[in-house]
Amino acid sequence: MSLRVVQWATGGVGVAAIKGVLEHPDLELVGCWVHSPAKVGRDVGELIGGPPLGVTATNSLDDIVALDADAVIYAPLLPNPDEVAALLRSGKNVITPVGWLYPSERSAAEIKQAALDGNATLHGTGMAPGGFSDKFPLLFSAFSTGVTFVRAEEFSDLRTYDAPDVLRHVMGFGEVPDKALSGPMQKMLDGGFIQAVKMVVDQMGFAADPRVRATQEVAVATAPIDSPLGVIEPGQVAGRRFHWEALVDDEPVVRVTVNWLMGEENLDPAWTLGPEGQRYEMEVRGNPDITVTVKGFHSEVGDTGPERGIVGTAAHCVNSVPAVCAAEPGILTMLDLPLISGKAAPHLAQEMR
Ligand SMILES: NC(=O)c1ccc[n+]([C@@H]2O[C@H](COP(=O)([O-])OP(=O)(O)OC[C@H]3O[C@@H](n4cnc5c(N)ncnc54)[C@H](OP(=O)(O)O)[C@@H]3O)[C@@H](O)[C@H]2O)c1
Repeated sequence: MSLRVVQWATGGVGVAAIKGVLEHPDLELVGCWVHSPAKVGRDVGELIGGPPLGVTATNSLDDIVALDADAVIYAPLLPNPDEVAALLRSGKNVITPVGWLYPSERSAAEIKQAALDGNATLHGTGMAPGGFSDKFPLLFSAFSTGVTFVRAEEFSDLRTYDAPDVLRHVMGFGEVPDKALSGPMQKMLDGGFIQAVKMVVDQMGFAADPRVRATQEVAVATAPIDSPLGVIEPGQVAGRRFHWEALVDDEPVVRVTVNWLMGEENLDPAWTLGPEGQRYEMEVRGNPDITVTVKGFHSEVGDTGPERGIVGTAAHCVNSVPAVCAAEPGILTMLDLPLISGKAAPHLAQEMR
């Protein structure tokens, strides 16, 4: 029996998640919520550029709540806790890349109650945060003892991230520096990345200050830069660096950093990605010291097809669905779930041979 899955929102992550559900042997797509009025009433197959699937898109929360489904992959622009609570209360497990990675008991008390009321589970996941900022540094730390420092760092050229709303409203590109530095972005990002830092701190048992230090820097364009937002003009924000650090005696013991650049040619300060280019880097200092560099989750300018990191983010959500559906109700983090893996392609799967 397949698990019945609803996709919530059909941006980059949503479209990739639908394709992932269709490729997963244990999952079936039964519903889809869309934001744009132009997508309402259309067959979801058409929305993802494929043949009809017999699933019609709706923009009604009530329709989705009323649906017989096991799980919702929730990937809108910004999370709405009331929506998530309604989905949970209706008995649907929710898997999402937009929050609840490692929430504090206090901040998530209401939504946890909704999950318990609906006998459902909420699980936050993703890539960064939700993978390379937390889960994978923790996995690699298992190969070291006496750990003194953990670092997770992303180096990305965001000219391939075709999500103008996320770039502008979540990441703060294309604004004047003052607005970017004082706007709500830091708080929005803090939500995810501070939880990533705290997960590592708690799991590894660092006696860190409970307040995670968050700092940010901006670089501005020195010449017009073509970007998914349109042209970023000289003086507008075209590079962002955020650091989130857990401290013991004012010294960082866990640090998550993102380096988000709109190319390397026209920035002031003249930030670069370094000779190794786009990558995720993880470092564990202990016995022994470990550095791991992961490439392959970044598209390059000129590549066709969806951004690889977005497909990876969606895959992590999709592959988590069976474990989340099998888990006890409440809010469960990746520390609570068993190992999540990908699945064999249909033509190589056991039951097909
Ligand atoms: N944790 C991670 O590693 C990770 C990685 C990537 C992305 N994310 C997060 O995942 C989310 C989706 O990213 P994406 O790349 O798919 O972005 P995207 O391509 O811009 O898609 C955003 C989606 O949100 C919908 N939307 C726009 N305005 C909305 C509103 N006011 N209310 C509800 N929905 C709205 C859009 O609808 P239409 O399509 O109808 O316009 C679209 O389906 C973002 O929050 C992003 O930060 C997390």
